[in-house]
Amino acid sequence: MSKSGDLADLIRERAGKAPVEVGLILGSGLGHLAGAVEGIAIPYSDLPGFPHAGVSGHNPNLVIGTLEGVRVAVFGGRAHYYEKGQPDAMRLPLEVLKELGGKRVIATNAAGSLRPDMPTGSIMCLSDHINFSGLNPLIGEPTDARFVPMTEAYDPDMRRRLHEAAEAVGVSMPGGIYAWYSGPSFETPAEIRAIKMLGADAVGMSTVPEVILSRFLGLRAAAISTITNMAAGMSSEKISHEHTKAMAPLGAAKLEKVLRRFLRNGG
Ligand code: HPA
Repeated sequence: MSKSGDLADLIRERAGKAPVEVGLILGSGLGHLAGAVEGIAIPYSDLPGFPHAGVSGHNPNLVIGTLEGVRVAVFGGRAHYYEKGQPDAMRLPLEVLKELGGKRVIATNAAGSLRPDMPTGSIMCLSDHINFSGLNPLIGEPTDARFVPMTEAYDPDMRRRLHEAAEAVGVSMPGGIYAWYSGPSFETPAEIRAIKMLGADAVGMSTVPEVILSRFLGLRAAAISTITNMAAGMSSEKISHEHTKAMAPLGAAKLEKVLRRFLRNGG
């Protein structure tokens, strides 16, 4: 049995056998959504190979249960490339999601905005990304499956339904392009000007490797950013992790409304 298969067995023993439909990966300051799920929480420390250390503002539990009538697996914390230099740090959790029956995954993150019309407290649905890090979680993967097409990586049907959900609950959620910067330092103003010219609308330190891995595993993927600050050099707002955590709840309330409606409509 594979490692992900063993972990899926362990999770099913605790959480029941019903297959999971949708995986949710929660970003900085968004961990409270895990508490909204009716189900059971399994600490990552009980799941060998799951990321332990994490980052403050994340909640390292896997919660399996029901949210708005849909069986979900909520990853309360994620591992980032910048923690240990592993772009594939979320591969095992996503493999486990697939073993549990998961078909779709929605990644959420905190991000800086490059668009004046998308201020702190806004949310943005990713329409595409720019891998500004040059890293890839599939480096070292020996099979031809590594040559993953990334056209429509952000599933058009999921995006359409997320936008419909946002409209139904009266939340403004523009589509936009997310640039992945490795972190952990924030960007310089010159880097922000550069990625703006390349077409980015938001910038952050996560999500892109998870979307690449999801496509590799055959999971349909979508992602939503909560804007916690204007990107470096775009305003006098001070950029820090503390600020990210403090501002995340502004967008998180909107994100929760959209996600709940999306799930209520079938997920
Ligand atoms: N840059 C990168 N990551 C971030 C930012 C940012 O400005 N804000 C929140 N996460």
